[in-house]
Amino acid sequence: MERNDAVMPMVSIVVAAIMWVLLLFIFAKDTHVPAVEISPELKASAAKAWPTLGKQVYTQTEPSCAGCHGANGESAGGGPALAGDEKILVDPNLVITNIRKGRGIMPAYPNLSDEEVLAVTNYIRNSWGNKAEVLGPEVLQAAVSNITPEVLRVRSRFVPEDIGLPQIFLATFVMLLLTYGIIGLYSVWAEGVELKPGIHKVRSTPMAVFAMVIALGSTVIFALLFAMQILRGLQGIASDPPVPPTVTLEGFYSAMAFLSLAAVLGIYKKYFMDGEALIEDASGEFPW
Ligand code: HEC
Repeated sequence: MERNDAVMPMVSIVVAAIMWVLLLFIFAKDTHVPAVEISPELKASAAKAWPTLGKQVYTQTEPSCAGCHGANGESAGGGPALAGDEKILVDPNLVITNIRKGRGIMPAYPNLSDEEVLAVTNYIRNSWGNKAEVLGPEVLQAAVSNITPEVLRVRSRFVPEDIGLPQIFLATFVMLLLTYGIIGLYSVWAEGVELKPGIHKVRSTPMAVFAMVIALGSTVIFALLFAMQILRGLQGIASDPPVPPTVTLEGFYSAMAFLSLAAVLGIYKKYFMDGEALIEDASGEFPW
């Protein structure tokens, strides 16, 4: 008996693909980082302010930096010497992050304004024999976010808060259509275009065994890759500063593991398992 469901799966897959393209257009959105706005006054004053404001913050903020690092950056017991400290010259972010977030016994200073943080940073980098470039307000932004524009660019373009009910509905519909099509195509492949009622004997071939080994192997490999990627992601989240996990890779590996597993099951059903086919109603609406 000729199957009546050999065409429908193709139709539903094509329709799903078209809807998927539509969805991509609905979701498409630029996720580039907005330019940092820096007030011109802050920019102009930053260059001038550090010798006075910077020194004032260094000596007068409570608890005072000078109390731990010494009035002349020579260290006063509590903290390391800042005079001649190479690290603060090469890495201004270290200074800014230490002031904002604290480190070890050094307290955080959440009450200092941007201007004050910048001034004291320039002050300790340019006093007591230290010499470094005088920084502008841009570095404050750089220190706040460790997520580079590159990282943002490779992140998903689909921002969760953009997804509303209509998109969820459409996406679900696409998934259903795709699943319908794939199951239909699969059943035509596994059972044949002709429906032959009765017991189907296995007809395992060397090629089928080979394909089975490949599919099993890739299931294991992708599952391992997935587990490793998850571990790497967790390490990134726990590190300081945290690194966002590579969701794309995690998704890719898990999808490949599931696809390989599906291939294993499919090959098993077609070539290794005796099956019974029943006579189907040729006008059935759900053909498989
Ligand atoms: C209670 C004492 C204390 C106070 C107050 C303090 N610090 Fe510190 N600071 C430390 C200690 C201790 C470290 C070393 C922390 C570590 O590496 O674990 C440190 C580290 C630093 C570093 C990094 C030095 C390096 O080479 O790693 C900078 C820069 C710094 N402090 C600047 C400041 C500034 C600016 C202030 C005032 C706004 C300040 N500190 C106030 C104790 C203090």
